[in-house]
Amino acid sequence: MKRVLVATGGGDCPGLNAVIRGIVKRASQESEWEVIGSIESFNGILREPTEIVVLDNKAVEGIHYQGGTVLGTTNKGGPFAWPIKSNDGTWIAVDRSDEMIRKLQYLAVDAVINIGGDGSQLISQKLYEKGLNIIGVPKTIDNDLSATDFTFGFQTAVQIATEAVDKLVTTAASHNRTFILEVMGRDAGWIALNAAIAGGADVCIIPEIPYDIHKVIKKIESRYHKGRGFCNIVIAEGAKPIDGETVSSVVDEVGYAHRKLGGVAEQLKSELKDAGLEQDTRVTVLGHLQRGGIPIAYDRVLATQFGVKAFEMVLDKEYGKMVAYRHPNIISVPLIEVINQPNFVDVESDLVKTAKGVGICFGDKSD
Ligand code: F6P
Repeated sequence: MKRVLVATGGGDCPGLNAVIRGIVKRASQESEWEVIGSIESFNGILREPTEIVVLDNKAVEGIHYQGGTVLGTTNKGGPFAWPIKSNDGTWIAVDRSDEMIRKLQYLAVDAVINIGGDGSQLISQKLYEKGLNIIGVPKTIDNDLSATDFTFGFQTAVQIATEAVDKLVTTAASHNRTFILEVMGRDAGWIALNAAIAGGADVCIIPEIPYDIHKVIKKIESRYHKGRGFCNIVIAEGAKPIDGETVSSVVDEVGYAHRKLGGVAEQLKSELKDAGLEQDTRVTVLGHLQRGGIPIAYDRVLATQFGVKAFEMVLDKEYGKMVAYRHPNIISVPLIEVINQPNFVDVESDLVKTAKGVGICFGDKSD
C-alpha cells in the first residue's frame, strides 16, 4: 500500500474541504493508494502522540460544500519555526524539519500534498529541497498569487463582500449616509475591486492606487443634492493614502511574526471628517465573514479540480510542483518559480477601466 498525506496550512478558505474530497475521491480509484490527513497543518506530525486521520470516501462524504477544513489549520509555527519555551522562559523557534521528515518515513508516507498560501508553499519548497516528495495546492481568498489565474475561495469572498455592499446600499439610501466597507485582501485589491463593480459602489479604494482624500470627497459630495443622497465606498484593508502608509500593526509572536492589516476604513472616516466632509459616515469591517461559510459553486469546482490534479501529480511523481489554473487548463508549475510572486491589480487593466467606465472613483489623479 502507498500513502499520501494531506495537510491544510495558513488561514482557512472556502473550498479547502472540496480539495481534500477531490484528492480522496481520485485516490480511491487507485487500489494501491490510501490517503491520511495531518491535523492542523504539519502539527499533527510534529506533535506527540501523532495526530493523523484516515481519509477515505466515507470520511469525505458531503464535505465539498462545508466551509473551513475538516483537518483544521494553523498559521503559527511549522516544521522550520516550531515555538518552544527556553529555560529562561522566553520563546524561541526551532527547526524540526529533519525530525518531521523522519517521522513521515516512519509512517510510511510516500508523498505529501500541502494545501496552503504563500507561506505554506515556501515550507513546501524547503521540504522538497530536503528530499520530501511534496506537491503544493494554492489557496487564498486574496487571489494574490501570480502562478494561477484564480485561487479557490476568492470568488466566494467576492460574493460575500458584494452581498454586504447590496445591504449597505439600502440602509445608506434610507438614511442619506455614506458607508465605508473594509474588505480583506492584504496588499491586493482584487476583492474590493470585484465587489465594488458587482455591488455598484461609488468609490473603490485599493492598495494599487493610493488615494487622494480630496478626490474622494469630491465624489461623495457629487452623490448628494440639498442634503439628500448616499454614497458607498469599498476599501481594501491594504489601501493607503498618497504620501501615506497602510494601517498595520506588527505581530512579533515567535513562529507567527507578521504584519497585521486592518483599520483603514476608520482612518478614512477620520480623514474625511478632518478634510471637511459633513455627511453622516459609517464604517463596516467585513473581516472573517469573508472566509467563513460555504464555498460558492465556482470555488467548489476549482477546488475539486485542484484536488484531482494534485493526486494525479502524485501518480506522475511531479514533486516540487504546485497545481495552478491557467484558463482553461489545470497545470503544474515548479514551486521555486511561484513562491513570492504576488499578483496585484494592474491599474491599466480592463477591469479597472470597466470600473471607471461605470463611474467608480478610485481617488486617483484621473478622478
Ligand atoms: O490571507 C487571507 C487573509 O484573510 C487576509 O485577507 C487577511 O489580511 C488575513 O488573512 C487575516 O489573517 P488572520 O486570520 O490570521 O488574522
